[in-house]
Amino acid sequence: MRNQPALIAEKIAAKFQRTAKLAADAGILPYKSAAGEWITSPFDGNSWWTGGFWPGLMWQLYSFTHNDFFQQEALRTEKMLTDELRTFRFLNHDVGFMYLLSCGAHHKLTGDEQAAQDTLHAANLLMGRYNPVGYIRAWNEKKKMGYAIIDCMMNLSILFRASRMTEDPRFAKVAQLHADMTIREFLRPNGSSAHIVEFDPATGARIGEVAGQGYTLGSSWSRGQAWGLYGFTLAYLNTKEERYLKAAKGLADYFAANIRPDGLTNSDFCQPEGEERIDNLAGAIAACGFIELSKVTDRPDYLAAAETLLDGMIDHCADFEDTICGILTHCTASYHDDGAGRHTNIIYGDYFLMEALNKLTGNDPMLWI
Ligand code: GLY
Repeated sequence: MRNQPALIAEKIAAKFQRTAKLAADAGILPYKSAAGEWITSPFDGNSWWTGGFWPGLMWQLYSFTHNDFFQQEALRTEKMLTDELRTFRFLNHDVGFMYLLSCGAHHKLTGDEQAAQDTLHAANLLMGRYNPVGYIRAWNEKKKMGYAIIDCMMNLSILFRASRMTEDPRFAKVAQLHADMTIREFLRPNGSSAHIVEFDPATGARIGEVAGQGYTLGSSWSRGQAWGLYGFTLAYLNTKEERYLKAAKGLADYFAANIRPDGLTNSDFCQPEGEERIDNLAGAIAACGFIELSKVTDRPDYLAAAETLLDGMIDHCADFEDTICGILTHCTASYHDDGAGRHTNIIYGDYFLMEALNKLTGNDPMLWI
């Protein structure tokens, strides 16, 4: 890798030592940043699906620095998320993202008993979204009752965790049923993946693909590909089932073949030439997936792909000054809808960037397992 991971991680930690205080002083849970300020989520308050990434990032920074401030900031914002368990109304399948990186991390790293209970509470909410016709329901809108999405592969990790915590296999069983459905219904012969598949919620019959956050129906949304790549790698690490490793490799090979020459990632691998839509969220998530995959395969090209992505983002899209509060720029929430941010800093870009650097420097607390 051209950049030294430890040096970059130190620069990130130094910046967050300055800027995370702004969020703590404002009493908010950040979603993205601009000059001199952190900005909260655009929808659903603290129930927005990205809520866990700030405490998760604080735990990653704590692992790297052992600076107590980061642990305190993780705990401050975990409380904001556990309050949402009581409100419940907006929570959806993303309780995996939200609570594994907050309460799940807290329990894993300190043994805290209430954090363990809160993690199990969230896992039970995800279990409750399993429709026995064969899929975990993604979102809450009535007209989306039959939607399953590739992103959910990451949320399954909290189910595997819950089975280990309780020694009750039913959580992991549901995770595997959903993962097996994802292999059958989402993965395409060329290695790309669908974002959304709709089922009849009464019978489980496949209705078809639905266009999601990518360019168009049938195209290849890069962040979905990254969720699948890392999600199937985690499913393999949790189960040692070869079919999940095979799925992860297929997704990884397609992703690797589509990394731009400058190391950045287009928002959709099928977007029209000349349309500049970069999504570094996809690049940062995929870098983590590639690193983990390289450890369980004899494929040095996977580590090389991770390094290409990290060098690309660090060279072209990292703000180590104080232009914005966060680090990674050019994150794009959705190809056509700019409401949640386009070519901007978004918190889970910084989360996965720091996770990847912690992996390369031997400091990753592996919050997903
Ligand atoms: N999981 C939602 C997204 O990636 O935008």
